Amino acid sequence: MSGKPDRLAVLVSGRGSNLQALLDAIAGQRLDAGIVGVFSNQPAADALERVAPPLRWSLDAKQCSGRAEFDQRMADAIAERRPDWIVCAGYMRILGDDFVRRFAGRMLNIHPSLLPKYPGLHTHVHAIEAGDTEHGASVHFVNEHLDAGALIAQAVIPIIPGDTPDALAARLLPREHRLLTAVMRLAVAGRLAERNGKAEIDGHCLLQPLRLDCDGSLMP
Ligand code: GRF
Repeated sequence: MSGKPDRLAVLVSGRGSNLQALLDAIAGQRLDAGIVGVFSNQPAADALERVAPPLRWSLDAKQCSGRAEFDQRMADAIAERRPDWIVCAGYMRILGDDFVRRFAGRMLNIHPSLLPKYPGLHTHVHAIEAGDTEHGASVHFVNEHLDAGALIAQAVIPIIPGDTPDALAARLLPREHRLLTAVMRLAVAGRLAERNGKAEIDGHCLLQPLRLDCDGSLMP
């Protein structure tokens, strides 16, 4: 490691509260990193407003001939900023295989379910309709399959009788923020890696995802 703070590229599509959690952690010296770019498929995303204009990059996919062109242009823009980690934080567009392979082993995603349950959209609805008693969020390495890469850590919350998808999402969100920050602390400390499709902490393969405890620490 160079001793310089790790460089983070953050991919966003909407509100950007997870990006804000990373910005707050950096400002509060709880995360030794710098955001070197925020990238979006939605030029009007509120998330972009959370950083200074030179850090913003966006492209409307309608301006591109297809997924390959969009992915190539965004990947080139990301690579120009020389990030150590690429963090999908509420990024809602599918990334093609070439994009994923280019950044393999250093691209992470936060997803609002206890993966492998409920990849894709409407996770809160699915958890309630299934009668689950617990729900949560997962951070994982990104691979070529949707929400299916190596799991790193999860935050778990109870589902309360009468919960609505909106109430559940609102209760989960602050836990997502702590989860993402905690995982990024491991990443920038050089403790997190992916090998043979599995997550490793300190060189040891994770047999099950770490779990976020009440005070924001990650436990085996
Ligand atoms: C979060 O629930 C995240 O897990 C999911 O989309 C939501 C984005 O929220 N992928 P925000 O844009 O970070 O506020």
